[in-house]
Amino acid sequence: MFFPQFRARRIRGNEVFRRMVRETALSVDDLVYPMFSAFGSGIKKEISSMPGIYQQSIEHIVTDAREAYDLGIPAVLLFGIPETKDAVGSDAYSDTGIIQETVRAIKRAVPGLVVITDVCMCEYTDHGHCGIIKDGDVDNDSTLELLAREALSHVRAGADMVAPSDMMDGRVAAIREVLDENGFDKIPIMSYAVKYASGYYGPFREAAESTPQFGDRRSYQMDPANRLEALREAAADIEEGADIIMVKPGLPYLDILRDLRNEYNLPLAVYNVSGEYSMIKAAAGNGWIDEQRVVLETMLGFKRAGADIIITYHAKDVARWLKKG
Ligand code: PBG
Ligand code: ZN
Repeated sequence: MFFPQFRARRIRGNEVFRRMVRETALSVDDLVYPMFSAFGSGIKKEISSMPGIYQQSIEHIVTDAREAYDLGIPAVLLFGIPETKDAVGSDAYSDTGIIQETVRAIKRAVPGLVVITDVCMCEYTDHGHCGIIKDGDVDNDSTLELLAREALSHVRAGADMVAPSDMMDGRVAAIREVLDENGFDKIPIMSYAVKYASGYYGPFREAAESTPQFGDRRSYQMDPANRLEALREAAADIEEGADIIMVKPGLPYLDILRDLRNEYNLPLAVYNVSGEYSMIKAAAGNGWIDEQRVVLETMLGFKRAGADIIITYHAKDVARWLKKG
């Protein structure tokens, strides 16, 4: 059918028509809000490259979490900045570690809010890598054991879901096994299945104080040039028992998100990472773009590409804007 029989503008002519034929919807139910919990008290320190996002000690993070809950956001994703770091990231799997204490405090104050924890070593190691170092590289198999301990201690503290972000091979299976052995067979794993070695994590590393002290993460995170490899990574994690798979970063990898949506029927998450947030905040702060419009369009783009869950620092703003209608 061609012009003049076909006129695309007929169903675009007024808002009610547009509403009726709209293919994608964004809801507050889609959102996960990431937060940074810092050891100590009385801390609420804005991350300079991420306006509106803070490193905060437990009393403040609880308030922030309650605000997210009151806005209708179903879940938060927690990152920890421990008191001390060491070569083996001991705080990560200590039952009195920063995340364990934070989970307990949030679950006590806001029990209805789903608390997801990031499971990785880089925030807890003095060298800033996501695992144990052997011969100048992150050692896969010895790291698995620590990740499993970390996940277990998060869940023991009350975490509702764990999200391994380290990119070691076999970690989903290792975590699933230890959770099941300890009676936590009901706890889902949201795996950072497809995580690229990305420059977009820059501001996060300031926020989580997790910059690698030597080298980079390219021996474990994925090469941004690779698309087929994403399918292999996802297949492996699904085989190992992942309940939700994630693509990260978001905007430069929408093709990957769509590939996974077409290939798998599991719930799919996307991480709209720190650098993506910072770019929008910088442009909006300069008056160069309309922040609300650009953020909502970005969120819709994730949904259209196939995401069910969007992890985003914009979550509270998005929830407010959706409420206003
Ligand atoms: C830790 C982790 C990172 C992010 C989430 N978990 C950083 C990294 O891998 O260097 C990035 C999140 C963001 O940039 O917002 N492994
Ligand atoms: Zn890490």
